Amino acid sequence: MTAAATIPAARVCADPTTVAATIPAARVCADATTVATTIPAESVGSQTIPGRPTPPYRRSMNSATQQDDLRPLVGRRALVTGGASGIGRAIAVAVAGAGADVTILDRDIQAKAVADKIGGFAVVADLSDLDSLAALDLDVDILVNCAGVQHVAPLESFPPDKFSLILRLMLEAPFRLIQHSLPHMYAQGWGRIINVSSAHGLRASAYKSAYVTAKHGLEGLTKVTALEGAPHGVTSNCINPAYVRTPLVEAQVADQARTHGISASEVLEKIMLERMAIKRLIEPEEVGALALFLCGDSARSVTGSSFCIDGGWTAH
Ligand SMILES: NC(=O)c1ccc[n+]([C@@H]2O[C@H](COP(=O)([O-])OP(=O)(O)OC[C@H]3O[C@@H](n4cnc5c(N)ncnc54)[C@H](O)[C@@H]3O)[C@@H](O)[C@H]2O)c1
Repeated sequence: MTAAATIPAARVCADPTTVAATIPAARVCADATTVATTIPAESVGSQTIPGRPTPPYRRSMNSATQQDDLRPLVGRRALVTGGASGIGRAIAVAVAGAGADVTILDRDIQAKAVADKIGGFAVVADLSDLDSLAALDLDVDILVNCAGVQHVAPLESFPPDKFSLILRLMLEAPFRLIQHSLPHMYAQGWGRIINVSSAHGLRASAYKSAYVTAKHGLEGLTKVTALEGAPHGVTSNCINPAYVRTPLVEAQVADQARTHGISASEVLEKIMLERMAIKRLIEPEEVGALALFLCGDSARSVTGSSFCIDGGWTAH
């Protein structure tokens, strides 16, 4: 499948003329005037796309105003995968609140609603279609790899296609996005890569072989990116939450309740929060705040690290 066919609403730079016909609502690079005329009036995000100027980059920081200090990411462009929901959405909100120009990449059309809310842009695409990712405009300053799914089954019956999908989505897609976003970051001598890993990036749980494997791999990728990126002003870190109150976890609570024949509150108490010293689900906004810290200048020496926000889960 070509990129054009699989990315219905894409932020496209590579060759806009060839994709125009198949991209109904695209975030198109400034010079893609030929595409603009073929795009229906619908725009993704709160501003009209075609004439939208490139945001002012931090190169002009000498003229920073007090306003910029309050919104330290003004002039930065961020891409947040999985930003239509849960943790990704909270990170997108936090980063946009600090002034960044945020694009949400998600397979869920809900990405557009979130983008509208934060004055950002949406790209509706399936990250597991790896070859399509090269068509995206990845000239971003901040890349947050957050999209993910879970599948729970014993190893002997774990569906191989699910295993492959999870690795593609949660390890190979981050690799591709990092690979394609580094040249821009290197060129400007600044960049932030934030990979949303998990407590399961550091510890294992039974029946989550694909998820645990992908997250452990993401930890390694993060560290290699930190080593290679450091001379170019690029930091790379993981965020490692335990259970966060998101649709992904709410679905797991319902599944476990059904499987064990117990109530949702018992699932929380006896299964999910059992290893957490702080006995409550983490709120997505708490993760958003941590991501925001990692984007800031105070975190410029922080790289190759994994930040547990897990209520003590990994303290065991
Ligand atoms: N919720 C938790 O307790 C928790 C804990 C640790 C780590 N995490 C990690 O945080 C990340 C976000 O999880 P969440 O809890 O916010 O889940 P969520 O289900 O609320 O959000 C996941 C998002 O990823 C998107 N997505 C899934 N497959 C995709 C694909 N093929 N292409 C594009 N987008 C796709 C979904 O549409 C969704 O918007 C995941 O990587 C997850 O592993 C979550």
